[in-house]
Amino acid sequence: MSSQILDQARKYEETASEKIEPKEKPAFHLVPPAGWMNDPNGFSIYQGRYHMFFQYYPYASHWNDMHWGHAVSDDLLHWDYLPCALAPDQDYDSFGVFSGSAVTLADGRQLLIYTGVRNDLAPGREKHQIQTQCVAIGDGADYQKYGFNPVIDGRMLPEGFSREDFRDPKILRKADGTYECLIANRAADRYGQILLFKSPDALHWEFVKVLVKNDGNYGFMWECPDFFELDGRQILLTSPQDMESTRDLEFHSGNGTLCVIGAYDDDRKDFQPEAYQTIDYGFDFYAPQTVQTPDGRRIMIGWMQNWDACAIRLPEAPWMGQMSIPRELSLQNGRLFQKPAREYEALKGAKTSYQNVEVKGEVSLAGLSGRTTDMEVTVRAKEGEDLYTKFSIHFAQNDRHLMSVSFRPHESVVKIDRKYSGSRRAVVHQRRCHVEGDPREICLRLIQDRYSVEIFINDGEKTMTSTLYTELDADGVSFVCDGTAVIDVEKYDLKVE
Ligand code: FRU
Repeated sequence: MSSQILDQARKYEETASEKIEPKEKPAFHLVPPAGWMNDPNGFSIYQGRYHMFFQYYPYASHWNDMHWGHAVSDDLLHWDYLPCALAPDQDYDSFGVFSGSAVTLADGRQLLIYTGVRNDLAPGREKHQIQTQCVAIGDGADYQKYGFNPVIDGRMLPEGFSREDFRDPKILRKADGTYECLIANRAADRYGQILLFKSPDALHWEFVKVLVKNDGNYGFMWECPDFFELDGRQILLTSPQDMESTRDLEFHSGNGTLCVIGAYDDDRKDFQPEAYQTIDYGFDFYAPQTVQTPDGRRIMIGWMQNWDACAIRLPEAPWMGQMSIPRELSLQNGRLFQKPAREYEALKGAKTSYQNVEVKGEVSLAGLSGRTTDMEVTVRAKEGEDLYTKFSIHFAQNDRHLMSVSFRPHESVVKIDRKYSGSRRAVVHQRRCHVEGDPREICLRLIQDRYSVEIFINDGEKTMTSTLYTELDADGVSFVCDGTAVIDVEKYDLKVE
């Protein structure tokens, strides 16, 4: 269970975490105790509590030898750290303990399945990675790597399937007590595919089939699959690399997120995709995982960051990487909707509201400032006047900095813009998405924590997520319209320490 590398990480994170001022961290988003965090891993319920593991390098705020960090929560918002769960301490995972998932075994123990990565240094060949799937079993705090790891390796793959891009196992326990696992892989034509494996005991695995393959329209490799039923359809979530932008504003270049909605025949293991959409249209959302709550809700948390824009955080930062708030998923009109999980509502404190305020030019209203707030703004066209061209909300604002989200009703396009939020890097600063419905009315809900904003458009029809590292006294809000708009505002200060 214990190794020198794991012990060292556990010791280090304890002291390093104390050195970070609470104000330097978000108030209600999970960040690493110290150092770097990427993907959520093993998001699950075990012994009555939510467990979140994560890709983790405790020693610096950049990606390096991957460990699994570990936190637990009763409400998905207040997280307690547990000691680092897994470290890269075996030959087969010496390059890193990459992403994976968790399941409760029939005997009550928790099994973690992850990708063990090692470098193949065979003489006379260029160094390359080998990715295999490995397991560790434990009691919710300490985990023992299985003596016969890896449990799934490249020898089980058909000819031509990549052994180098073969990762991020998502384990599922079936009603009959057997297990299935979805694993991301790259086919010989370089496009991503999701493979299905099966096992009687989560230790002995067999390749079943390619469940779904990227047809070339959605990047190259697909990472971090999740697969579940939602409102009568089957959902595959995955995060494609090397996406291209599409002119309908549905997909954006770089690392993206993809929700495939389809029909699934579990007996025949037949998944038929019906629709493809982005999961989050902002800059910073990747590799989400979901869990089903005891009352049947499907909750998703994503890494609130994106590989292509990591440079926006300066290297001296004491931590890097955050998780999104938990989001409750549903399907409406054949599309994925997201709302803040209902647990989140308990954070709402003092309320300020306004009705029917006319916005012409720039308007500020008393009581709306803050950096840990939830503000819902309903924007309507003014009866009897020409429809305005652009309405914007400026927030996280001071003399020098601001973030903005704007709506152009003639195009039905929402844009998020962070170019004036203190960024010192030439990374993507603007993203746009289309919204459905009557453009004469739109609802924009902004959930701000100290270093992020999550925007829910029209009650969860679309979301746009962004990190921001503006100084905390940049907390002003104003509304700007080039014609006349009429707004209602409902704003809550969030109850945070
Ligand atoms: C996705 C990812 C995974 C991999 C992990 C490594 O963000 O690239 O595919 O397992 O990060 O940290």
